[in-house]
Amino acid sequence: MSDTFEKMDRMYHLQRHFYDFTRKYYLLGRDQLLRDMDVQPGETVLEVGCGTARNLIILAKRHPDSFFFGLDASEDMLDMAEAKIDSARLRNITLAHGLAGDFYYVNTFEMMDRFDKIFFSYSITMIPDWREAIDNAINNLKVGGELWIVDFYDQKDLPRTFRLMLQNWLKAFHVRFWSDLLPYLGTLETKGLVRLQITPIYKRYAFIARLEKV
Ligand SMILES: C[S@@+](CC[C@H](N)C(=O)[O-])C[C@H]1O[C@@H](n2cnc3c(N)ncnc32)[C@H](O)[C@@H]1O
Repeated sequence: MSDTFEKMDRMYHLQRHFYDFTRKYYLLGRDQLLRDMDVQPGETVLEVGCGTARNLIILAKRHPDSFFFGLDASEDMLDMAEAKIDSARLRNITLAHGLAGDFYYVNTFEMMDRFDKIFFSYSITMIPDWREAIDNAINNLKVGGELWIVDFYDQKDLPRTFRLMLQNWLKAFHVRFWSDLLPYLGTLETKGLVRLQITPIYKRYAFIARLEKV
């Protein structure tokens, strides 16, 4: 477990300084997810693997009457996030250090109630225990709440050379498209736990999944 903390800090200690600038060119679909999520006033929204809080800051400015939370395994990324939130003078974002698989709304965020919305933006492909992370997110959602995921897909509608180059390059960042991921989301729907919608984007470069807790 603490292995993940060390691994993420090692990876992001330097990268956090140019992270937002470089990632805007290839973490595609993040803004579409933020628009599609339809946050209502007073709602609580958690990002798992929030990094530098790029997404939370956009949401918190757009929805000043809602409450945003970020969880991340890297203290270095959280330090950067905290500095950005302070300089944007936002008061509706709370951050916590922890792992996707074992946070709990009461202990981690001192909340009385589960979240209205939880999302993973380009973090699920970095989490080897992704099943545990998804199950835990659903457990931390209200009934009727929504889990959203945006991440790399299989790039099958893009040229093969581009696909292989991208996939090799992503391995250096511990990023892997889990081929069992979308079928697993399907089994959650079959079990009657969620209603599922999956949208491939940019020729299967990435996908957006929306799961509504039943
Ligand atoms: C590629 S970055 C994405 C950051 C942000 N979500 C975005 O869209 O810009 C992935 C983030 O997930 C975090 N992360 C990786 N594994 C994690 C885990 N098991 N639990 C919590 N956070 C994790 C990393 O520290 C990193 O900040």
